[in-house]
Amino acid sequence: MSEISILKAEKSRIDGINWNNLGFGVYFSDHVYVSDYKDGKWDAGKIIPYGPMEFEPTLCTLHYGQSIFEGLKAFRSAKGGINIFRPDMNGKRLNHSAAKVCIPDFDLDQFIEALKVLVKLDEKFIPTERGCSLYIRPVVFGSGQFLGVHASDTYRHVIITSPVASYYPEGLNPVKILVESEHVRAVRGGLGSAKTAANYAASLYAGTVAKKNGFAQVLWLDGVTRHFVDEVGAMNIMFVIDNEIITPALDQGSILAGVTRDSVLTLARDWGMKVSERAVTIDEILEAYNNGKLNEAFGTGTAAVISPVGVLRYKDQDMVLNNQQIGPIAQRLYDTITGIQYGEVEDKFGWNIHID
Ligand SMILES: Cc1ncc(COP(=O)(O)O)c(C=O)c1O
Repeated sequence: MSEISILKAEKSRIDGINWNNLGFGVYFSDHVYVSDYKDGKWDAGKIIPYGPMEFEPTLCTLHYGQSIFEGLKAFRSAKGGINIFRPDMNGKRLNHSAAKVCIPDFDLDQFIEALKVLVKLDEKFIPTERGCSLYIRPVVFGSGQFLGVHASDTYRHVIITSPVASYYPEGLNPVKILVESEHVRAVRGGLGSAKTAANYAASLYAGTVAKKNGFAQVLWLDGVTRHFVDEVGAMNIMFVIDNEIITPALDQGSILAGVTRDSVLTLARDWGMKVSERAVTIDEILEAYNNGKLNEAFGTGTAAVISPVGVLRYKDQDMVLNNQQIGPIAQRLYDTITGIQYGEVEDKFGWNIHID
């Protein structure tokens, strides 16, 4: 593999960071990785200072949304060094998304190498506080400048890193979720399984209305019948019914194959729990709730890891779960996954990529 060239920033951005109030995606590290695709291949990439990039107003991505991205995290390990959590999964999902919107594949080894070199170079931006981490945002977009509707011939892959706070500064907080029964995010045969800009654009309206009404996010139903549960705004959803973990299957292609989802299912199976990936309707959830069998519900995603649902509103009924307290399964999953990420719990599945 060719060497990644590095042009170091003349002045570090680190002094501008408020470490006591990092928020999410507010501060950026000194450098980004950039690789360009031209004449049918990706170049080896370079690391350059974070800063503006110049484009003409005809940048095709602005018009036709040929854009995909990823989200993963690096942590300071309790054993020393840095852990990047399951970057191979994000690399594979990036290529799945790429295929959906006609973006060329990116080499997985090159992806992992770029992450390692970039994270190591900006190591000082990884927060030391437990719960905080370095969020990594790879984004790939068509870089062609034209107005005809067609796939671009050229692409740019940029990897940004950003020190972020714990999602819940006061601990794991159960959230209020609104079941969205009017608007839809994705349909079978569409782009739902891709992490592409279009899906987030499609989710903004319903998400904004839900927030105004006091909900953290919406729970999407399938785009055809509006009975089957898909996923939450930026999380997959899991229900615990009669001590069985039930989550929508990926086979309809309308939901994102979350890395945290996979980690949760792997751990739960390893613990001997009953786990089902299958179609689940909102009526089934309501019925389980009314019969007192809905023990817990929680979202899974990189940002919050596990996000317990305290209230789930469907039409005019509020399902109040577990007295709006964190359930034992959500808590155990959260403790185990974050424990692995911070190097405190044995990484028996080999999920972390460690950098000394
Ligand atoms: C739509 C959507 N679903 C699910 C997830 C959870 O995926 P992951 O666990 O890989 O963060 C995310 C977050 O990236 C998301 O944006």
